Amino acid sequence: MLKRSRPYSGSPARAGMNAILEGTMPTLTPVKKAVLPAAGLGTRFLPATKAIPKEMLPVADKPLIQYAAEEAVASGIDTLVIVTGRGKAVIEDHFDFNPELEGALAGKGKKDLEKMVREIANMARVCYTRQKQPLGLGHAVLMAREMIGEEPFAVMLPDDMIRSEVPCLEQLLRVYRATGGAVVAAKEVPPAMVSAYGIFAAEPVKDRQWKGRLFRVRDVVEKPKPAQAPSRLAVIGRYVLLPEIFDFLEKTRTGAAGEIQLTDGMRELAHRRPMYAYLFEGTRYDAGDKLGFLQATVEMALKNPQLGPSFREYLRTLPIRRKR
Ligand code: UTP
Repeated sequence: MLKRSRPYSGSPARAGMNAILEGTMPTLTPVKKAVLPAAGLGTRFLPATKAIPKEMLPVADKPLIQYAAEEAVASGIDTLVIVTGRGKAVIEDHFDFNPELEGALAGKGKKDLEKMVREIANMARVCYTRQKQPLGLGHAVLMAREMIGEEPFAVMLPDDMIRSEVPCLEQLLRVYRATGGAVVAAKEVPPAMVSAYGIFAAEPVKDRQWKGRLFRVRDVVEKPKPAQAPSRLAVIGRYVLLPEIFDFLEKTRTGAAGEIQLTDGMRELAHRRPMYAYLFEGTRYDAGDKLGFLQATVEMALKNPQLGPSFREYLRTLPIRRKR
């Protein structure tokens, strides 16, 4: 946790950076753990998700949750805390060794496949916690409290797939390291779409190093009507959060009869601690939605070194024409 040796003056993001450069900022606790909530019902994707976890649906040749796990590891995370629920056991199998399969692949001389399968189990330390009822994203994150402890941590929604040069989580962690605040991924959405997202009330941080991408968050409004939206900056499923959020989520839990949204905890956190929204560089797909999933599948298949060239050829043969 960050304990400041002197108060902010001017831009907090610049103050943080200056303090680091001057060596006056005490060391920040590095973010090493990421929570991947995977206990939802996936109702938007029925009937596919009746018996198969949404997080295990394959985009090109990998299940959705593996993309998030790889992004976490590429961003320096060493522990994944996956929140599961009923019917989600195959997620545990996916990140485990499979001696039978590895043995069979070795027997057939398929060394590359054997290595690939083994690497999935070795990529990180993986722990599981269970959400017995899908009571909302905030509730799912709260289930990871014991495993996270008193450290800042990441949250990654596996069905938000992000393709980028620098992993999206790493982009957020750069902001965390410069500011010590919580950081949430943001994307600008058209006015007609604001009611499908959490929307930030935020002001730009006027510091050239952030190239207009960083915003100081004052509040977050869940799914506002276009006329009431404080901005067009939408919350996307990558977060760096401070452990105080657990207290806020816990309070919501004792008061609420229905679902606990992560936004409830984020709002409280933003009122008490610095929170930033960062317009990440990259393309995001809502792969929990059927159309978003198809878009992700086509684009990831086109980018895939093995599949890409023949898939492109195939797409060219399709009789797709604009309607007149
Ligand atoms: P979503 O809202 O996209 O997932 O939550 P969902 O509820 O499964 O989907 P729909 O709306 O019914 O189609 C984002 C992530 O949070 C997890 C989901 O598994 C998904 O990965 N989640 C959501 C939980 O772990 N628990 C919950 O109670 C809700």
